Amino acid sequence: MDKGKRADDEYQMLSESGYADKAIEYFQSRQNFGVIEDADQITDLTGPCGDTMKISLKVDRDTINDAKIQVLGCPGAVASGCALISLAKGKTLDEAAGIDLDALYGELEKMPDQKVHCARLALRTLQKTLKEYKEKQVKHKAVG
Ligand code: FES
Repeated sequence: MDKGKRADDEYQMLSESGYADKAIEYFQSRQNFGVIEDADQITDLTGPCGDTMKISLKVDRDTINDAKIQVLGCPGAVASGCALISLAKGKTLDEAAGIDLDALYGELEKMPDQKVHCARLALRTLQKTLKEYKEKQVKHKAVG
């Protein structure tokens, strides 16, 4: 099967199951996917469903200059993770920590109701990443 046809079939299935075009676009483009080699922080989290997300951040002073995500999981997890990274890039650490479910759904527009926990997993992964980064900074200050 050629790539275009596969993408169309996938689009059809996702659309019929309740994903908005925007969410499908994030899922299919895998925008922001990957790991930053020289990241300042890399954190992963596995949800109760068994899916795993890993976020890497590049931080300059207090601002997230770059961020990427890897997702081993469902379309809802991939779409949520990619959309969340789009929202977090360019924000300060505090602003990023304030991104909530409403903001994430504002970016995704719509996913099936059963997929809310996937969006929550993305948010929890980002929260954990930011927390670990901050803890590391405090330790550095205490040592240096
Ligand atoms: Fe696990 Fe979607 S089913 S994150």
